[in-house]
Amino acid sequence: MMTTTLISHLKCRECGTEYEPIRIAVCEKCYAPVDVIYDYSKMSFTKDSFVNRPRTIWRYEELLPVIEPKYRIDINVGFTPLVKCTNLGRLLGLEHLYVKNDAVNPTYSFKDRPAEIAVSKALEFGDKAVGCASTGNLGAAVAAHAAKAGLPCYVLAPVDIEAEKIAQITAYNAKIIGVKGTYDEANRLAVMASEEFGWNIVNITTRPYYVEGSKTMAFEIAEQLDWKLPDQIIIPVASGALLSSITRGFSQIEEVGFVPPTPVKINGVQAEGCSPIANAFRAGEDIVKPVEKPDTIAKSIAIGDPGDGIYVLKYVRDSGGIVGAVSDEEIVESIKLLARTEGIFTEPAGAVSIALLQRMVREGKVAKDESIVCCVTGNGLKTSEIVPTEGNGFDIEPNIDALSALVEKW
Ligand SMILES: Cc1ncc(COP(=O)(O)O)c(C=O)c1O
Ligand SMILES: [Zn+2]
Repeated sequence: MMTTTLISHLKCRECGTEYEPIRIAVCEKCYAPVDVIYDYSKMSFTKDSFVNRPRTIWRYEELLPVIEPKYRIDINVGFTPLVKCTNLGRLLGLEHLYVKNDAVNPTYSFKDRPAEIAVSKALEFGDKAVGCASTGNLGAAVAAHAAKAGLPCYVLAPVDIEAEKIAQITAYNAKIIGVKGTYDEANRLAVMASEEFGWNIVNITTRPYYVEGSKTMAFEIAEQLDWKLPDQIIIPVASGALLSSITRGFSQIEEVGFVPPTPVKINGVQAEGCSPIANAFRAGEDIVKPVEKPDTIAKSIAIGDPGDGIYVLKYVRDSGGIVGAVSDEEIVESIKLLARTEGIFTEPAGAVSIALLQRMVREGKVAKDESIVCCVTGNGLKTSEIVPTEGNGFDIEPNIDALSALVEKW
């Protein structure tokens, strides 16, 4: 089958060194991130080309880095709903509020996007095993894709991640290695594992390709807004890869001319118990001081030493947005608020965007008539212990008197 990708080469984000599209983690000269560059001059598709395309991330195949279509793994990732939140919007006084609901991806988080590209690239590079360092969601996403690809998979995650995520990873038949330490310690061990055993640790070994998956979220938002970009977006931040990828996705879709140049305010949000980037933002600093011992219910975003931290600061500041931090109490309240107003059940890492939204409204940082997208990145069923079922212990005998007695109390 014909190659469709417009990939041209790789380029170091800092020193500009160029590489062929090889199996590479970071720039060999300066260790900075390396970006995939596309040749738009070869582009033969237009906005109209999308009508008959699959409703998955592969609808943007030209702007994705997989060269041989036969290596594509496809478990129906992406094209998740962009929900117009009329109820929550009314409550907050916002006319154009949207949730990008990535909680409904095949493994129930946005991580299916980078995992699908990364595992496809691993096949293309002839890797015999894949893996990742994970706070849980990436582990599930890589494990599912490895299962489909027929590759063994090794997930290194802190021992205390949620039982639901461990169950998922185990069901997909990956080896889950519980590391007695933080995510950063698991990540360091994963680097060693990739060298020692040759595993393609997708968030490290082939990171330039891995991060390309997440920009499809930006493409979809643009397409679902009828080829417009929103005025503002709020993105949960751990390593900062998602925020960097979405920013890149918005500029690419502008560069190819599908949307007019639009000054989107990019806002990032962390949990107070692990907010190294928000701390640097508040202090007006350009460097990010790692948090040694993260402590938050939003375990999926508990990354103390974020790889893309400096880029998050740059992209957010350049856009006029903010990086905020929200408390565990605000997170729980936001999970319930989103569920009861819009019928969307998210995990804490997804609810941070709703928590920051409320604060921005209070502080006058979002206008009534602005369009604003909150990224909801993971599913509430992954963290079921977070919303206690207090008040729902309505066990009764199977008769109408018992039911009436109960209803009277309400
Ligand atoms: C549900 C969820 N949201 C957001 C993030 C943040 O992603 P990133 O590390 O790309 O900043 C993660 C990371 O694990 C996550 O699991
Ligand atoms: Zn470099």
